[in-house]
Amino acid sequence: MTTVYLNGHYLPKADAKLSVDDRGFVFGDGIYEVVRVIEGRVFAWDAHAARMADGLEGLRISRAGAESALLRGVCERLVAENGLGTGEATVYLQVTRGAAPRVHHFPATGTPTTVFASASAFKPNMAMRTDGAKGITLADIRWSRCDLKTVNLLGAVLARQAAQEAGAYEAIFHRDGMVTEGAATNAFMVVGGVLRTFPLSHYILPGITRAEIVELARGLGIPLEERPVALRDLHAVDELFVCGTTTDVQAIVELDGRRIGSGTPGPVTVRLREALAKRLYGGS
Ligand SMILES: Cc1ncc(COP(=O)(O)O)c(C=O)c1O
Repeated sequence: MTTVYLNGHYLPKADAKLSVDDRGFVFGDGIYEVVRVIEGRVFAWDAHAARMADGLEGLRISRAGAESALLRGVCERLVAENGLGTGEATVYLQVTRGAAPRVHHFPATGTPTTVFASASAFKPNMAMRTDGAKGITLADIRWSRCDLKTVNLLGAVLARQAAQEAGAYEAIFHRDGMVTEGAATNAFMVVGGVLRTFPLSHYILPGITRAEIVELARGLGIPLEERPVALRDLHAVDELFVCGTTTDVQAIVELDGRRIGSGTPGPVTVRLREALAKRLYGGS
């Protein structure tokens, strides 16, 4: 039996019920997080909690009931109660503006938010990490506040479906001729020995893994520029990888049916993948 958390209660998943008026359901009016748990230890909690707080503030949703210390405790208890204290797991957290009659503007002050969390076992795809994956490019049709991790994920849903139908793992977005990020990942490219990634802005999610990679690259002395790569140059980059909480560092070795670099994960990608793995598993 799976135990989940809903509005202050731990209960069997089958008993967790939401109102059909919940604004998460009706409008996609909410914020979510996915955190990685390794041997019972939540990775980069403070960064996830800070991003969630920023997102709630950005949407003007109350943070009451979604405080960092409270949610961290929720993560730890869900992991323990679901027998996920060994091996790997993820915890999904979601806060919506709550249930209220359907009008677009905010409900009455004091309407309780909905706070939900669940934990699941997780197994990284090691073969794909080692061999590399396929990608496609797609126009970024999302809105202009991609920095907010909202539950309204239609841009990502349609893009990942297009990728799947093309036999690929990820869709890499472009906007105004520039490569922004993946449908559910941030994107990095190696061009002439320099690691490049789209700068933090409203057009990408400030990925927790992205921040780890930036820090690791600096520590390893890998030249890094937070500067966009043009779509027209993308197929000729030396290396391309995407990263995320459940993606780690994932080389993209074929894009739109064309080989990237040597067609195998490149040296910078492998170095960063190994450095991230050390942080994840080595506990440093
Ligand atoms: C659009 C988008 N970009 C980047 C990421 C990676 O973020 P993180 O490293 O925090 O998982 C995600 C994760 O879901 C995402 O949805």
